[in-house]
Amino acid sequence: MFRVLLRHCSLLLLTVCAAAALAQQEGPPLGAGPWVLPSFEEARIKVTVLARGMDHPFGMVYLPGTATKEFPIGDVLLTERTGKIRLFKQGKLQDAAVVDMKDVFPLEQLFDIKLHPQFATNGLLYFTYIKTGPNPNGGKGYWVTTALARGHYAGGKIDNLKDVYVAKAWSSNIGGASSRLHFLKDGTILFGVSHRIDTSAPQELTSDIGKVLRLKDDGSIPTDNPFIGKEGALREIYTWGNRSVMDFTTNPLTGEVWELENGPQGGDEVNILKPGNNYGWPIATYGRDYDGKRFSPQPWVEGTVLPEIYWVPSITVAGLTFYTGDKFAKWKNNLFVTSMIKGRVPGTGHLERVVFNENGEVRREELLNSLHQRIRYVSQGPDGLLYLLTDHKDGALLRLEPAGSEPLDAGVAGSVEVAQPAIAAINMFPDQDCNTCHRVEEKLVGPSFRDIAKKYPLTNTNVTQLADKIIKGSTGVWGETPMVAHAALKADAARTIARKILELEKE
Ligand code: HEC
Repeated sequence: MFRVLLRHCSLLLLTVCAAAALAQQEGPPLGAGPWVLPSFEEARIKVTVLARGMDHPFGMVYLPGTATKEFPIGDVLLTERTGKIRLFKQGKLQDAAVVDMKDVFPLEQLFDIKLHPQFATNGLLYFTYIKTGPNPNGGKGYWVTTALARGHYAGGKIDNLKDVYVAKAWSSNIGGASSRLHFLKDGTILFGVSHRIDTSAPQELTSDIGKVLRLKDDGSIPTDNPFIGKEGALREIYTWGNRSVMDFTTNPLTGEVWELENGPQGGDEVNILKPGNNYGWPIATYGRDYDGKRFSPQPWVEGTVLPEIYWVPSITVAGLTFYTGDKFAKWKNNLFVTSMIKGRVPGTGHLERVVFNENGEVRREELLNSLHQRIRYVSQGPDGLLYLLTDHKDGALLRLEPAGSEPLDAGVAGSVEVAQPAIAAINMFPDQDCNTCHRVEEKLVGPSFRDIAKKYPLTNTNVTQLADKIIKGSTGVWGETPMVAHAALKADAARTIARKILELEKE
């Protein structure tokens, strides 16, 4: 919606139109909280507002060595899209900015902030931003590109700020304004450059537009980048055909880098990044343009790579992280994706939780819909809880934690007590992983528990036999997919579970 409005706005009216577009997207203001809301595996989660009054916060980092018993996440540095870097110290957001990046750079919008892997010893912070500059072809007008910058942090101050890399992505169109950066295990940096509403450049290796770039921490180009030696190709390119990179995360089980990007009206996607891959924008996409026209006749063409997961309609994805902590025991290795607006309807931003097994995605749950916020960013704190940033003029830092048996918040639409029996009815064994593959009534990866109960009458022999299969795993009875072993389950516990399943068909 934002981009459609911008397209139809003349340059003179740009600010007015942008303000109107933003107002349409805002939705209702955030209340004071805290709220206790429902979720499938965890049953109840609590959302607390830790800070507010940030102008469209975009990125955040936890400063190592600052955690205390009272403030277990320690001090946090946050970026505001409008240029300021703020400090959340000892549980309070400081009024004065650490630095206003507009005072240092010709900055149009500030995006991400990340710690250098050796931050503890070198104090280096990295940033991405949209930079304005003179028309590279001469002449006047508004020109922007994406830049990677760094600075040195010490004693609550950031100095020595300078550009590390300025992308070859100059355009008079800011289009798809976002850029995240990500340190790989080898210390090199991935950094996204958006599509600038240019429909040819993302498929051209002579431009940084619509690409993920890979650089060393000093901005030089690693010698093992995929297009080095290819005639006419830019050496910094890591992957291409990326529309607008919103975030990166590392899969804790495989070590792969997963990348999140915005489609237009449909076609938001998560890609598993491999050097040299072409992710298809705009020749292969599930997306439609804002006027409803399909972008590409089919979502895949030869030479491009399909996304691992995608959304139609778009949920305006913005942040992603795998959960690796212990606080939400049942969310381990789940992928969290933030949404700012779903299906172009204001006030529909939320958080999605995606569950995988070894075959791929098995479940998606929408969380926090009842708060009606645009959620920009999600990260796991040093304390193992999840922290979110909302994308509003009065942007907030939120904390998510398990709520135990606290009553659900009835005052918030969508969080009603009736959600509980429904959850219990599908999630029969909340302490086990069974519900990843089994539902009571539906066939999922495995047969429904109802069908199992129909097949095996409730006898001691059947209970023993099924308990044994639950422990050892089983194959070939219901289909090609084997059932995983549960070697850690004690025989008694397995018998109790098997009996409960078979009791579904007890007269
Ligand atoms: C990763 C997916 C997965 C998980 C997790 C899983 N199962 Fe299964 N389960 C299957 C599949 C697939 C089958 C069918 C296997 C076959 O064809 O024999 C199955 C079959 C079964 C059967 C029927 C076996 C038979 O011989 O008819 C039972 C009972 C069962 N599962 C119980 C459980 C319980 C209890 C849990 C949790 C402790 C669980 N499963 C976890 C995938 C899973």
